[in-house]
Amino acid sequence: MRDAPHFLLGQTLRQPRDVSPTMTVLDYLRTVESLHGTKEGCAEGDCGACSVVLGEVDGDRIRYRTVNACILFVPALDGKQLLTVEHVSAPDGQPHPVQQAMVDCHGSQCGFCTPGFVMSLFALHHGDAEVDRTAVTDALAGNLCRCTGYRPIVDAALAAGRAEADQGSVAALAGLDTGATLSIHHGTQSYIAPRSVAELAEVLEQNPDATLLAGGTDVGIWVTKQHRALSAIIALDRVAELQTIATSGDTLQIGAGALYEDVLPVLQRYFPDFGVLLHRLGSRQIRNRGTIGGNIGNASPIGDTAPVLIALGATLLLRRGAVQRSIPVEDFFVGYRKTALEPGEFIERIDIPLPKSGQEFRCYKVAKRFDQDISAVCGAFSLHIENGILTAIRIGFGGMAATPSRARAVEQALLDQPWTEATVRAGMAAMDNAFTPISDQRASAAYRSRVARNLLFKAWLETSGAPARTRLAVAP
Ligand SMILES: Cc1cc2nc3c(=O)[nH]c(=O)nc-3n(C[C@H](O)[C@H](O)[C@H](O)COP(=O)(O)OP(=O)(O)OC[C@H]3O[C@@H](n4cnc5c(N)ncnc54)[C@H](O)[C@@H]3O)c2cc1C
Ligand code: FES
Ligand code: FES
Repeated sequence: MRDAPHFLLGQTLRQPRDVSPTMTVLDYLRTVESLHGTKEGCAEGDCGACSVVLGEVDGDRIRYRTVNACILFVPALDGKQLLTVEHVSAPDGQPHPVQQAMVDCHGSQCGFCTPGFVMSLFALHHGDAEVDRTAVTDALAGNLCRCTGYRPIVDAALAAGRAEADQGSVAALAGLDTGATLSIHHGTQSYIAPRSVAELAEVLEQNPDATLLAGGTDVGIWVTKQHRALSAIIALDRVAELQTIATSGDTLQIGAGALYEDVLPVLQRYFPDFGVLLHRLGSRQIRNRGTIGGNIGNASPIGDTAPVLIALGATLLLRRGAVQRSIPVEDFFVGYRKTALEPGEFIERIDIPLPKSGQEFRCYKVAKRFDQDISAVCGAFSLHIENGILTAIRIGFGGMAATPSRARAVEQALLDQPWTEATVRAGMAAMDNAFTPISDQRASAAYRSRVARNLLFKAWLETSGAPARTRLAVAP
């Protein structure tokens, strides 16, 4: 056991003992370390002004990921290197190549967003991806600039390109992790970060009222925006077993704590549409911390992964102590933000059947913005068509009810029918009876109903080989 997080701030070891386990990294930097380069804009993970980089040992190199310091708690730094805009220039004071490119390309005006952009560009520069326009816009989708305009910033990213040599040495960072469990007691608060699933199960069974913390992209906001005082926290991010992604027989098994950015390429390979949707989930900073386990555990009716997992026939492996049980994703949500989890139980793994021959899968996220926006409606469709007949179908929707839901009535209207326009229009009519959506700030009930019908029509257009003439038809 150790009682304080150990991390490198730049190249210097830090072990802060007197900070609350729910102090954000942003507050820590600005108030404890007096490092004011990292800015606060929204304090909810949306604007990227607070972007910092976390370094982690990955084999014989350091892997850098941008995260939002405003919703990250200090203990999450344990075993990592924290880099801010104060740490990226060369020891002789020369600007880092991405800083120089920002100067050369006039990528900054008022400068408020600039440290955040520099850190996103730093991670891109030292990452694995080729630095082309797509990679740049993807890396910058979580950084908001209100005055410069993005063209010069994108130009700067392209001009800086990718680093030829790895940055940093792993030795100091690797030495930080002794494998010990971090257990913090601070006033009335406690924070424990188990190192194995068995330890996690035991600790949670003993403290069933504790808050489970995965990436904290939801939980962080409970603290910064809802000012909730979390007294007992059990963190999942040091449990390596929860981050495994593997196939077993005809099932893809995803640990509940696997990061979106790590799951994304795997899901993209098996279900390309799921990959596209995950690219649109939050931003790079959010996907570098967020998990599917957290998305399901949060039980939001507009969470993006639940409808997709419902359509794919996924199940959740739940665990309490040594006892495991499996539950279909659609049965996990029992009411508005209520789940089937028993006290002391957690999601260990998400099991997704691998695609079968003849299976068509489509999913669509409808939101006001392409990037960094929550869905108004999310629809997912898994279909088997044999000789023109729909022999199997599963449909999942988010944003249409108090929980993510399976559209069973629509499935029944379509099953074993010829996959024709007449059938799909019957399914669209059934959709009206299947859901009674609400109106809120994201969309009206009428809009949601119309969109849900049209997404079914879109899935049919894309999977039925319908002629181009029909593709132009407006669904009523
Ligand atoms: C700027 C921003 C943009 C976002 N954009 C999107 C978006 O486009 N689409 C979307 O769906 N969501 C979005 N979110 C919400 C959030 O990122 C996701 O819900 C994410 O998947 C949460 O995962 P996490 O690991 O951060 O969960 P956490 O915040 O750590 O936890 C969320 C909840 O799940 C519980 N939990 C976590 N892990 C487990 C487990 N293994 N077992 C049981 N319970 C568990 C926690 O106790 C908590 O109640 C966004 C959030 C932000 C801040
Ligand atoms: S301050 Fe806006 S994302 Fe952190
Ligand atoms: S330079 Fe002013 S907000 Fe970006």
